[in-house]
Amino acid sequence: MPLEKHSDPMKRLDLSTVPALGELPELMQACVIRKEREGEPEHSMQIEEVPVPVIGANEALVLVMAAGVNFNGVWAAQGKPVSVFRMHKEPFHIAGSDAAGIVWKVGADVRRWKPGDEVVIHCNQSCGQCPECNGLDPMACSEQKIWGYETSYGSFAQFTRVQAQQLVKKPKNLGWEEAASYGLTYFTAYRMLVDRAEVKPGDHVLVWGAAGGLGIFAVQLCKLMGAHPIAIVSSPGKAELVRSLGATMVLNRREFDFVRAPDDGPEKARHRSSELKRFGGEIRKLTGGKDPDIVFEHVGKDTFFASVFLAKRFGKIVICGATSGYDLDFDVRHLWMRQKSIIGSHFANAYQAERANELVLDGRIKPVLDRVFDFPDTAAAHQLMKENQHQGKLAIRIQAPKI
Ligand SMILES: NC(=O)c1ccc[n+]([C@@H]2O[C@H](COP(=O)([O-])OP(=O)(O)OC[C@H]3O[C@@H](n4cnc5c(N)ncnc54)[C@H](OP(=O)(O)O)[C@@H]3O)[C@@H](O)[C@H]2O)c1
Repeated sequence: MPLEKHSDPMKRLDLSTVPALGELPELMQACVIRKEREGEPEHSMQIEEVPVPVIGANEALVLVMAAGVNFNGVWAAQGKPVSVFRMHKEPFHIAGSDAAGIVWKVGADVRRWKPGDEVVIHCNQSCGQCPECNGLDPMACSEQKIWGYETSYGSFAQFTRVQAQQLVKKPKNLGWEEAASYGLTYFTAYRMLVDRAEVKPGDHVLVWGAAGGLGIFAVQLCKLMGAHPIAIVSSPGKAELVRSLGATMVLNRREFDFVRAPDDGPEKARHRSSELKRFGGEIRKLTGGKDPDIVFEHVGKDTFFASVFLAKRFGKIVICGATSGYDLDFDVRHLWMRQKSIIGSHFANAYQAERANELVLDGRIKPVLDRVFDFPDTAAAHQLMKENQHQGKLAIRIQAPKI
């Protein structure tokens, strides 16, 4: 990529210092993944100096004050299940699909935003010109990409390049780190529940990983919409967190032995099946005999067969991910005999992100920030997420001053 010509002689920007608006160095610090070191995040993600990206007519350059950590950074670091270098042609990958920052520069055709605006970035990119973008849903665009995963120049850098339509207002009531933490998972949970599964007041919603990045928002959205979350967690600490978000029905999945293993013999399979029925029984005890109208899925292999089994007749399983494996198997008889639906969902379009963000601006949905890391510890934060050692969200302080 050619270097942009900068009139300003400044060559370096110190971390944790907010420069004068418009000052633009030629090089920036970035947390970079390279093809030859794909593997554990601790090893794969390293701070390097790279050129500040050049923006196009409909794009904006944003000074990244803080960035949010997501599981896609773990996938990108590992190069699994797919290498990000198959998705774009840049020689390096700057991960990061969540950020809060200051608009630093806008392209010639950008009218809704100007330098100095404080923003949160949503991570969907699309062409903006095709019939799908203009009539169906930008998520249906053949060029649809997740910024910072399917593109380089994501948020783990001093500057990031985004399409102007990716910007939404930063809530004034939140600090930079909190503001950077919620976009990807919250907007995804919003589309899953509100648009795809069409959650209604009174619905019972089984939420796997309820104390994780998606789960904390699924629980809050259910409460806000008059639905009843059934929060599944794996520790007493996580149970406490989801109760603080308003969940009253909480189960610890570690108390049930229903996850199948490849070497299960017939006896073990019978045991797993009876454990799954016991789990379903505990859910009914909590709900007063009701099965879940909706199952909020993102775990994949370890839970999907249970989700299909547990959803009520005519119920919906809405899925956006597969942390434990994407090669799913389940007993399809539960699906057709009881007329359940499986619904795929992926991030959100700009309108959904905007609508969802209004609830954060109003203070009705709140980020749950577990820890903030300094920029050099970006890799460690991803390692922690990979090992499921976090609750809620993690953020990286980049240009924001340490208070
Ligand atoms: N398509 C999209 O747009 C989209 C958007 C966001 C995320 N995703 C995907 O969705 C997944 C979750 O993202 P996230 O940000 O919520 O991750 P996260 O913060 O790591 O939370 C996931 C939660 O899942 C639970 N979990 C992990 N392994 C499990 C297992 N084997 N069985 C049952 N529960 C398990 C954990 O909770 P407990 O241990 O407490 O049960 C964990 O807190 C990731 O794979 C991510 O890539 C996709």
